[in-house]
Amino acid sequence: MKRILIVGAGGQIGSELTTHLRDIYGNKNVVAADVRECRDLAENGPFVVMNALDANTFGYTVNKYRIDTIFNLVALLSVVGEKDPQLAWSINMGALMNSLDVARQYNCSLFTPSSIGAFGPSSPKVNTPQDTLMQPTTMYGVCKVTGELLSNYYFQKYGVDTRSVRFPGIISNVTPPGGGTTDYAVDIYYSAIRHNHFVCPIPKDVKMDMLYMPDALNACVRLMEADPAKLIHRNSFNITAMSFSPEEIYDEIRRHMPDFTMKYEVDPGKEAIARSWPDSLDDSCARDEWGWAPQWNLADMTADMLTIIARKRRDGLLI
Ligand code: SER
Repeated sequence: MKRILIVGAGGQIGSELTTHLRDIYGNKNVVAADVRECRDLAENGPFVVMNALDANTFGYTVNKYRIDTIFNLVALLSVVGEKDPQLAWSINMGALMNSLDVARQYNCSLFTPSSIGAFGPSSPKVNTPQDTLMQPTTMYGVCKVTGELLSNYYFQKYGVDTRSVRFPGIISNVTPPGGGTTDYAVDIYYSAIRHNHFVCPIPKDVKMDMLYMPDALNACVRLMEADPAKLIHRNSFNITAMSFSPEEIYDEIRRHMPDFTMKYEVDPGKEAIARSWPDSLDDSCARDEWGWAPQWNLADMTADMLTIIARKRRDGLLI
């Protein structure tokens, strides 16, 4: 990884991954691209306004900046995908196909995240294995499974260096997520600081895997730097750092804010999606094949999230 293009750089993962990779590889070696202008990302490195569905501009950008590694982070997430499944398919798969074809043409490595959403109700729920039945019931999941298969196909057929992880819900305090089922686990921290109260859309007992952003960023770097000879799997590795229910994250926040309150107004659409996903993933293949080792658990992440969001509020940076 020497000359990197991040497509979808303005999103939840992309905005922090751009900064992280620029710190490691140098500002000028990490090109951020998004369909919208992103001032923050353009301030300290190259930035391109680019629609990932436009194959010509995509290829032109990769060629112009002599890119060797592409991070394709373009996605409509699970909840928003159910509102317009055809749009979700065309954006998620269109960006992936262009990424695969451009990577093939310009000999680039390619990272495209998959998700816990690739699993479905027929997958084992607890300690969900790396290789198992995957029959998702959302369009987001259908795109992710298809994406895993296509990425493996391009690796086997054309030798494109495709690699991927199945991200669980990602919790961060920089750019908010949008349109996902796991978003509640970010929203709860902001609501705690702003209102000392949270209205939870997910039932109290439903567990999902989660990851704090610093671990997600490390996963991207570590997997893309991994020795290919050690990779038995490619698309896509289970990774996780914690698994909790709304009740458990609520209890953890109350250790810092004893007066914090929460009530449930369950969203049936989100409930159906959340119940169709695993409770907890088995990430032993990622640990064995490329040294995945998350650093953050629920307690440490909660302390950090509350400190940072409270500081932002004091500094007038929260609306
Ligand atoms: N965070 C995603 C979602 O909730 C799952 O990968 O849709």
